[in-house]
Amino acid sequence: MNAPADLPRHARSIDDEEDLNPTANPDFQQVLHARLSRRSLLRGGVGGAATAVLGSWSLAACGGGEDDPAPTTPAPAALDKVAFATVAKSTADTLTVPAGYTATVIYALGDPLDATTPAFKNDGTDTDFDKRAGDHHDGMYYFGLSAAGARDASSNDRGLLAMNHEALTDNFLHANGSSARPRPAAESDKEIPAHGISIVEVAKSAGTFSYVRNSSFNRRITPLTPLELSGPVRGNALVKTKYSTAGTGCRGTINNCGSGYTPWGTYLSGEENWNGYFTRGAADNAARGNDKSVTSLNRYGKAQGSASRHGWETSGADDRFARWDISKLGASTDGTDDYRNELNTFGYVVEVDPYDKTATLKKRTALGRYAHESADFGKLVAGKPLAVYMGDDSRGEYMYKFVSTANWDAADATPTSRIAAGDKYLDAGKLYVAKFNADGTGNWLELTVTATAIATYAGYAFADQADVLVNARVAADALGATKMDRPEWCAVHPTTGEIYYSLTNNSGRKVQPAAGQWAVDGPNPRSYADPDGNAATPENRNGHIIRIKETAGESAATTFTWDIYLFGSQANGDPALVNLSSLSADQDFSSPDGLWFSRNTGLCWIQTDDGAYTDVTNCMLLAGVPGGVGDGAKTTLNYPITGGTVTVDTYVGKKPTADTLRRFLVGPKDCEITGITETPDGKAVFVNIQHPGETIVATNVADPTKYLSHWPGNAGYQATAGNATSRPRSSTIVITKNDGGRIGT
Ligand code: FEO
Ligand code: CA
Ligand code: CA
Repeated sequence: MNAPADLPRHARSIDDEEDLNPTANPDFQQVLHARLSRRSLLRGGVGGAATAVLGSWSLAACGGGEDDPAPTTPAPAALDKVAFATVAKSTADTLTVPAGYTATVIYALGDPLDATTPAFKNDGTDTDFDKRAGDHHDGMYYFGLSAAGARDASSNDRGLLAMNHEALTDNFLHANGSSARPRPAAESDKEIPAHGISIVEVAKSAGTFSYVRNSSFNRRITPLTPLELSGPVRGNALVKTKYSTAGTGCRGTINNCGSGYTPWGTYLSGEENWNGYFTRGAADNAARGNDKSVTSLNRYGKAQGSASRHGWETSGADDRFARWDISKLGASTDGTDDYRNELNTFGYVVEVDPYDKTATLKKRTALGRYAHESADFGKLVAGKPLAVYMGDDSRGEYMYKFVSTANWDAADATPTSRIAAGDKYLDAGKLYVAKFNADGTGNWLELTVTATAIATYAGYAFADQADVLVNARVAADALGATKMDRPEWCAVHPTTGEIYYSLTNNSGRKVQPAAGQWAVDGPNPRSYADPDGNAATPENRNGHIIRIKETAGESAATTFTWDIYLFGSQANGDPALVNLSSLSADQDFSSPDGLWFSRNTGLCWIQTDDGAYTDVTNCMLLAGVPGGVGDGAKTTLNYPITGGTVTVDTYVGKKPTADTLRRFLVGPKDCEITGITETPDGKAVFVNIQHPGETIVATNVADPTKYLSHWPGNAGYQATAGNATSRPRSSTIVITKNDGGRIGT
């Protein structure tokens, strides 16, 4: 990809910083006039510290009898400070954790998932990726296993890691790098199954975790695995394909990025940049009669003539290749003789039962179709609906919430059928999109075909509710939702129930926006050049973390208040316009992405996927102890412009101290830190290190001196004589404390 060097690594490799939102929805201070200095309305009634502390939701919800697979240990005390030794910023090709901690690689690209698949040679000759760890490890969750091999959410020494494999560093999969198009079938047949999901058993022996190569639970879900469409879109005309003429199924899942887990013991996987894998012919608009499918395809980043990322459609006529061309090629009126509707079968949250290979894999269409990241549940309250929070990661896209029709029944924490529990809670409900107001309040707007703004929208004629869900971005445009700085992961604070969203960065956020750019506003208030002059174009370079508090703490609330927990920044950033959280050198970070709260310690874990501060440091993991919405102060940013000042009010959360935010880990060169989970006792934390050394300086992969990283080989993983020059591998690590204590204490 030819993306600018200041984009996140991740964006460079898989173009997730797309600019697809063409609408003129109010950025809510969009009309900023050059000579005006004006103030937003005062925010009213947002004060108050975090609300009273209850048990974490998982524990509160799950009871705990002898036969109950839910956690049985009492809720440990949440931490009120971080107490580990801060890790310094670094550009070395090593992975660093605090003194007194140990990080161990346990599951890397290519590791075999059964006893018969050969050991990974890591020289580009390996095959059979449907039986090996995939590439680009991303979101994951630890599901406890009992000694007898049953679900046991309190198990600390045996579990299943469910894990996303988002994308590829494709050159390293082949002996001499990727071939030009037409792509050899043998190369595509390695690349396609290197995507998807792993279920892999991990077990502790002599105090150390490793993966269990021959576990009967191990499996891969790939872009070729059959899945069912579930919920309102199932059977709709929009998803009928040659593969599933009834529109009830689809082939595989791809670009699985952020993750989640349900109270009933299943894994959720978000499909993010799925559009990039498909191609559409240069004259396809006319072939489609310029119907509304063209509007939809354009809004989801698939203009006619756009190429596919890997060119798999050029590998042959077999459907496993042909399906990546979504042009209208057939003569049917309903698309059952080609793959013109194939794109509508991607962009969902996938539910997987990690314990049961026979359970149906389902795409939960009621949660909407967009570039999904994580999915996290609001606090569970018996007799009340469930809320699932989600984001859409592209520039100027939106934040969403799904509210179930069914009310929570605590007995469903241990259901007879976990996928049936998913049917109950995730197939029927209301989908909302967030609109932020300048006064520190916000509204959840329902995406329903009966909403006047949607029913009468001039930009697209919605046929039914399934159409609204498939085209959630378009429906959210119609409602006037607030365009955000790339919503990545969201995470719910286990005690306060407040919802945190990473907004990783936005190169199009401007003080004086041109067409196709976004004006600074309260929830996205910054636009600035690099403090060291490395990049002079103002934008939201370092990202921020916004958080919201539902009115009365209700999952079904349609109003909320908000503030900004942290602003990413270099420590030397201008304190008036950039380093608004007053980050010190022990805390400064850029481009927050992965975000997750420990259910044991309550720590807020922040992971970065950065390209803006990488001249100083590799990507990192931080741990924080946040307060709550309204614990800081209203702050006014004054941007000098020709002839005046542009003024923006925002709400800055209480600034962190050395006790409430510290850097915990720095990764090897050219990686992204993403995906984090833990054992229930909080004594082992698993973290994914994605695409170390993905930028190959020379196109000749035969020259290892050109690789930016040799990790984890250079750290001794599967040590061989060539490790100092080995190809880098995306990997899962486990972190333990040398004294056996809880991580972060
Ligand atoms: Fe796959 Fe938006 O990160
Ligand atoms: Ca990212
Ligand atoms: Ca991400």
